[in-house]
Amino acid sequence: MRNRLIAANWKMHKTPAESTAFLASLFPLVQNNTSAEIVICPAMTSLAPLADAARGSSIAVGAQTMHWLDSGAYTGETSPTMLTAMGVTHVLIGHSERRQYFNETDTTVNLKLKSALQHGLVPIVCVGEHINERNRDLTEDVLRLQISVALEGIDCEKLGPLVVAYEPVWAIGTGHTATPETAEDAHKIIRAEIRRHAGEEIAAGTRILYGGSVRPENAGSLNGMEDVDGALVGGASLESDSFAQIVALFAEQPA
Ligand code: 13P
Repeated sequence: MRNRLIAANWKMHKTPAESTAFLASLFPLVQNNTSAEIVICPAMTSLAPLADAARGSSIAVGAQTMHWLDSGAYTGETSPTMLTAMGVTHVLIGHSERRQYFNETDTTVNLKLKSALQHGLVPIVCVGEHINERNRDLTEDVLRLQISVALEGIDCEKLGPLVVAYEPVWAIGTGHTATPETAEDAHKIIRAEIRRHAGEEIAAGTRILYGGSVRPENAGSLNGMEDVDGALVGGASLESDSFAQIVALFAEQPA
């Protein structure tokens, strides 16, 4: 049984004060949760205060992106060593908004994944097809290519911490959640591609999260799918009530 992981991606929302206030309101709402892992990925400016406020609790803090190098002349970037020094433990890699607006590619995803593993950060690698790719029946090709380039040249023994988030681009921020069956099909493809690269043991242990308009109304049915191991939540993670409800639904063992 893979341990559930529920991650909040706050994107470009919340000041440091708003971030720590959220955490204070989340703590009592999730105090009964002992099974699902919770990770919050705030904006860069909230990482240090949130990591300080979460220290000693069961809530982890992740970055939304990072550079793959430790230091250098890269204006505006943040390095993995800067993240770990703040107490950040997770990092999103290759979110579709980074790919779409900031020129991230499968190749930079690969560099970042290698770097995250080397620095002991838990990588959450985001993959997913655009609507035109789905309509042309290219979903499987797109997912296989994204996973295959991401994992290129990485020793499978190092891939234990890997987490993948399947986020179909057409489902992000649109209210059009993938059906549980559509998500399950995609997760099976992703797991099969991980298996091809890294073998059965790593594939069976890799958490694959679903992201794209996850809400309290659909979290329970997504959690019922065999290969859905958690969620990456955007909009519904901005309010502690709805995020805590999603955590609770995923923390329940599916029947
Ligand atoms: P929404 O939950 O707002 O659709 O965002 C999903 C997402 O992009 C999480 O990374």
